[in-house]
Amino acid sequence: MKAIVVTDQTAGTAGMKLVERPEPQAAINDVVVQVHASGFTSGELTWPSTWTDRLDRDRTPTIPGQELAGVVTALGYGTTGLLVGQRVFGLSDSYRGGTLAEYVAVEARNLAPLPGDVDFTVGAAVAMPGLTAWQGLFEHGRLQAGRSVLVHGAAGAVGSMVTQLAREAGAYVIGTGRAADRQKALDFGAQEFVDLENDVLEDVGGVHLVFDVIGGDIGKRSAGLVQAGGTLVTIAGPTEARPADGMAIDFVLVSDRAQLSEIVQRVRDGRLRTNIGNIATLDDAVAAFNPTKRISGKTIIRVRP
Ligand SMILES: NC(=O)c1ccc[n+]([C@@H]2O[C@H](COP(=O)([O-])OP(=O)(O)OC[C@H]3O[C@@H](n4cnc5c(N)ncnc54)[C@H](OP(=O)(O)O)[C@@H]3O)[C@@H](O)[C@H]2O)c1
Repeated sequence: MKAIVVTDQTAGTAGMKLVERPEPQAAINDVVVQVHASGFTSGELTWPSTWTDRLDRDRTPTIPGQELAGVVTALGYGTTGLLVGQRVFGLSDSYRGGTLAEYVAVEARNLAPLPGDVDFTVGAAVAMPGLTAWQGLFEHGRLQAGRSVLVHGAAGAVGSMVTQLAREAGAYVIGTGRAADRQKALDFGAQEFVDLENDVLEDVGGVHLVFDVIGGDIGKRSAGLVQAGGTLVTIAGPTEARPADGMAIDFVLVSDRAQLSEIVQRVRDGRLRTNIGNIATLDDAVAAFNPTKRISGKTIIRVRP
C-alpha cells in the first residue's frame, strides 16, 4: 500500500516521504480500515510516541497521522462492536499512528460509526479537534452555562471547535489569535476577539476558563487571567503556569466512541462546522504538509477519491 513515512526526528514535515509499505494486520480487538480521508496534527512529529513504542524502542519508519475516516475491511481476533463494510471515523493510538496510508489497523474502541450522510473528509476533520475540545471543556474544564471562556487560537483547528462547543454550552467566548484571524474566529462564534499581535491580552480581565493551544509566554500570562476557582486547560504540553487561586490542567486527548458520536451528531444537525484549510490527495500529501503559504484550518488527505 501507499503510505507516508518519517524516519528523521530532526527533519520535521520536510522529512515525510511517500513509499510502499506492507498492509497492516488486525491484532486482538483491532479492525483494519481502508482509509478514505485522514489528518495530521501539527506537533505530532515532536511527540515521543511518533518515534518509539511504549517500551521506548525505536519504531521508525513511522507512518504518522492519527485522524481517520474510512471503511472497515477486516476484524481482528475477538473484535466486537464494528462490522466489515461499516463506515467509521476516529483516532488511532498515538503509539501506532498510521492513518496517512491506504490502510490502518486501529483498536475498534477508538472508532465510532460515521453516518452515511457525513462525508469522510468531514469525519477525518472533526475527530481530533472535536474530541480535544470536548474533553478540555467538559471533562477537564468542567464548563457550565454562563461562564466565560478565553479560547486561544480560536480560528485554528482545535480552537474553532472549542469556540463552537463552548457557545453551544451557554458560555461567553473570547477568542484570540493573529490579526488576520479576527473575522474567522467571530464567524465560529467568538463574542470578542483579542489580537495577540496588537492588543494587550491582560485587558481581557478575569475569565473562568482559559483553553490554551499555544503555550509558552501566552500560556504563562493566561494563568493570571483565571478567576478564583477557575481553570487553565492547556493542550500545549505541561505548564508551570498556575492560576493563583485555580487549577492548571494539561492533557493529551484519548479517543472515545460516545464523544465521537456526540460530535458527529452536532455536525449533522448544523451545530458544529469543520475547519478545513486544504484537501490534498495522498500523492500530494507531502507537499500539502509543507505549504509555501500560510494555511488556516486543517489539512485533510483524501486518500480515496
Ligand atoms: N494535547 C492534545 O491532546 C492535543 C490535541 C490536539 C492538538 N494539540 C496541539 O495543540 C496545538 C494546536 O493544534 P491545532 O491543530 O489547533 O493547530 P492550528 O490549527 O495551527 O491552530 C493553532 C492556532 O493558534 C494560532 N497561533 C499559534 N501561535 C500563535 C501566537 N503566538 N499568536 C497568535 N496566534 C497563534 C495559529 O496561527 P498560525 O497558524 O498563524 O500559527 C492557529 O490559528 C498544536 O501544538 C497541537 O500539536 C494537542
